Amino acid sequence: MAIYPKGAGDRVVDPGALEAIVTAIFAGCGMSDADAALLAGSLVASDRRGILSHGVMRVPDYVKKMTKDGVDPRGVPTVVSDRGAAIVIDGHNSMGQIGGTMAMRRAIERAGEIGVAFAAVRGSNHCGAMDWYTLMAAEADMIGIAGTNAIPTMAPWGGTDRIVGINPLSIAMPAASGKPFVLDFAFGATAHGKIRIYHQKGSPIPEGWAFDAEGNPTTDAGAALNGIIQPIGQHKGVGLGMAVGMLSSLLSGAGYGTESGNMEDGAVVGVDGHFFMAINVAFFEDVARFKTRTDGVIAQVHTSGRRDGVERLYVPGEIESDLEAASRDGIVLPGTAIDDIVAAGKALGVDVTALAGQ
Ligand SMILES: NC(=O)c1ccc[n+]([C@@H]2O[C@H](COP(=O)([O-])OP(=O)(O)OC[C@H]3O[C@@H](n4cnc5c(N)ncnc54)[C@H](O)[C@@H]3O)[C@@H](O)[C@H]2O)c1
Repeated sequence: MAIYPKGAGDRVVDPGALEAIVTAIFAGCGMSDADAALLAGSLVASDRRGILSHGVMRVPDYVKKMTKDGVDPRGVPTVVSDRGAAIVIDGHNSMGQIGGTMAMRRAIERAGEIGVAFAAVRGSNHCGAMDWYTLMAAEADMIGIAGTNAIPTMAPWGGTDRIVGINPLSIAMPAASGKPFVLDFAFGATAHGKIRIYHQKGSPIPEGWAFDAEGNPTTDAGAALNGIIQPIGQHKGVGLGMAVGMLSSLLSGAGYGTESGNMEDGAVVGVDGHFFMAINVAFFEDVARFKTRTDGVIAQVHTSGRRDGVERLYVPGEIESDLEAASRDGIVLPGTAIDDIVAAGKALGVDVTALAGQ
């Protein structure tokens, strides 16, 4: 689930103040002001949508990537080739949000002219939550599709080698209500980070999350950390992860699977790949009719039967858009995440008083 229960140490922060400080931190790492603002804006957007795992909690990790691990804060993505519906972009070792946002913008622009466009990105790094990109398309009355590689943590079904990433996919469809359908998830039963939290607490993990190193199901967090993440839907999740990884890598020339890193050594910098597709509804169907029908699909879900005790049925993207609407004046974040940002800011000489006081 994208949403997290409110914890005892949680604090409410002003989104504007948070974004300004995170922007200054990324500028302090050497990014241009425009890139720093884009990266900070994308992380705060994830927090506002309740996707805390891909929000400002990532700041210390991103600072390390750009100041110690070799990601180029001043990397400028370039267009490698641009032929009709097919666009290839090289991120030149910039953060994934920089090349990825450029790629989706260009795909939307091209789909505006010819109906459909597909942008493949190589030479990139971690690119955050995929709904950041597909929502851009939905806002332009287009269907957005986006996927990326992630470090391989899954094995082929029945296998024991971590060679397949949980590689997330997002698909967004515009709706007349202004609340688009936004599917956005990875194909692992869990993320590696969640297992680490259970391990730190000394708790067993839920059944169905992981295999041990020999490929046997386990609830032992330590065995899971050294083991393999279970796919969703058995062989189907592995197949979907492979397909998204191949779409992210083989068209752009990016690294695939273990070429892009492993759990022991982390990511190989500057070899990641992603893909971004825009489908212009107006080239297929009357836009108003399409968007009203999307609302109809969503209404079907809302009015369909529910199991006893289930209060409400959701469509993908709905929980996030409700949280986004509720977060205009304040985002609830774990106190430890705020403390980490304050520490990162101070180390870079950024004025963090607006956040330290919240
Ligand atoms: N860049 C990367 O390398 C990378 C890797 C993995 C994941 N991610 C991102 O992490 C985020 C979280 O991924 P995840 O796999 O943990 O997703 P998740 O399991 O939290 O699922 C989120 C999706 O499920 C929908 N959803 C949740 N509850 C629902 C319900 N009750 N009814 C209907 N729909 C519901 C949400 O609206 C959303 O579309 C995503 O934004 C993803 O793009 C990024």
